[in-house]
Amino acid sequence: MDVRNMDVTSYGPSVHRLRVLFATSELFPLAKTGGLGDVCAALPVALAALGVDIRAILPGYVSALDTARGKRTLSRLPSGGTLLLARTPDTGLPVYLLDWPELFRRPGGPYQDQDKRDWPDNLRRFAAFSAAAAALAEQGDTAGWRPELVHANDWHTGLLPAFLALRHGPRSPSLFTIHNLVFQGNFPLDAARALSLPEALLTPDGAEFYGRFSCLKAGLRYADRLTTVSPTYAREILTPAFGAGMEGLLRARAADLTGILNGIDTDIWNPAADPALPVPFDADHLAGKRAAKAALRRELGLDPTADGPLVVGVNRLTEQKMADVVLAALPALLDMGAQVVLHGEGDPGLEAAFRAAAIGRADQLAVRIGYQETLAHRLNAAADLALTPSRFEPCGLTTMYAMRYGALPVTRKVGGLADTVTDIDSTQTGGRPGTGFTFDDPTAAALADCLRRAGSRFRDPIAWRRAQRAAMGRDFSWEGSARRYLALYDDMVVSADAPRSPEPAFLEAAE
Ligand code: ADP
Ligand code: GLC
Repeated sequence: MDVRNMDVTSYGPSVHRLRVLFATSELFPLAKTGGLGDVCAALPVALAALGVDIRAILPGYVSALDTARGKRTLSRLPSGGTLLLARTPDTGLPVYLLDWPELFRRPGGPYQDQDKRDWPDNLRRFAAFSAAAAALAEQGDTAGWRPELVHANDWHTGLLPAFLALRHGPRSPSLFTIHNLVFQGNFPLDAARALSLPEALLTPDGAEFYGRFSCLKAGLRYADRLTTVSPTYAREILTPAFGAGMEGLLRARAADLTGILNGIDTDIWNPAADPALPVPFDADHLAGKRAAKAALRRELGLDPTADGPLVVGVNRLTEQKMADVVLAALPALLDMGAQVVLHGEGDPGLEAAFRAAAIGRADQLAVRIGYQETLAHRLNAAADLALTPSRFEPCGLTTMYAMRYGALPVTRKVGGLADTVTDIDSTQTGGRPGTGFTFDDPTAAALADCLRRAGSRFRDPIAWRRAQRAAMGRDFSWEGSARRYLALYDDMVVSADAPRSPEPAFLEAAE
């Protein structure tokens, strides 16, 4: 989808198009470390398709400056940095970039240096980014575009709703989306004081959090509305087990909190038209899936004649993704005759342990540390089962990608995973076939039991085929979820204290 080719006239030349500023620290392909980058690329495009006049704002990392198209300079900001306006290469989404070389033009990732150490000035970097976004929301850009609503995402933009709320006078309403509550952006209070942040923020009623300063808490406290990325996680985070210390504040704000399930980009993750695959396939034509499995086994040196399931794990190797438990369950998995391919990066100790586990098992176990987007596509296409368990999971895109490629997930009934996977043996599916295998306890024993159950189902081709068809047929597209966001935006604008902006906001002339 390309927002430039959308038929915006179908929304009517005099129809008001809501102007939204979408602030994020990741947006694929300009910057991505995980699911946040995928969601922040796809959701604004889905909203644009519904007629929203939406623009993103992203820090001007080297990768973003290199990848964005048609950059033009708008203004130098008094606080520092320069505001550019560009577009994403594939979808043509308008994106403001905050080009501030001292803060963002560095080798390494958005949050960490090349040795995976957090940048020591992350508070300053993301406070400056949030302040620039707030200034854009308040004053508009030099070409006259000013948002009526601001949508911020995760801790990196948590200060944005706070800056807007602490301002006197009319302002745009703000929405804050929680993609992951355990990443909180907590820093010493003195570091916040040194940046001369508003005094109100440094108190317990502001963003003080157990003696520290929390950017996430600022977002949760000051945004007009809150969302998170699945209905189950929205309920879970009100409890101490999942609230990461924020459950009290979240309970106080429960009436403003909704769970809206993420979608996936069904153009990028489409086995019927995936350039990474040797032969395309769909739910009714699975020869391409068999070809993908054979090609992958050849490529990785796995025994081409083995008759057990091919199990893949494409995930960050972290505690959240239960990588330690997967490691502990590996012997059981190999004993049941499965072939296993693990692809991911994360905790260095776990990376080393997985590499060591593969030594001497080359015909049955392949470990590829790192992350390559095309390999992830080929692995999902080749797989019979996808290992995607989590201790907690706000949504879990990986599991939806797997299902779309006919790889049945083996996963835990938690967060967004509970909302997207139904167990094949569950009696609560209302007669609809299940789409995967789920377990409850976050232990190696429970995972191994679930894998053995999946292994025995694999020997029943009729049941397997039914589940595969159900998994591939699930609608994970963004449209329904984007409509829910739009209804929320509309509600926020109508109920905002601030009057609607006085200037007429008719359809812009095509650029
Ligand atoms: P999370 O964002 O918590 O990692 P999701 O399942 O929602 O979980 O999204 C995972 C995203 O990260 C997907 O876009 C996937 O393509 C990508 N991904 C998967 N494994 C890795 C990895 N090891 N390193 C970087 N990205 C990965
Ligand atoms: C976070 C969560 C993941 C979610 C993603 C996008 O990275 O861990 O569950 O899918 O954000 O919202």
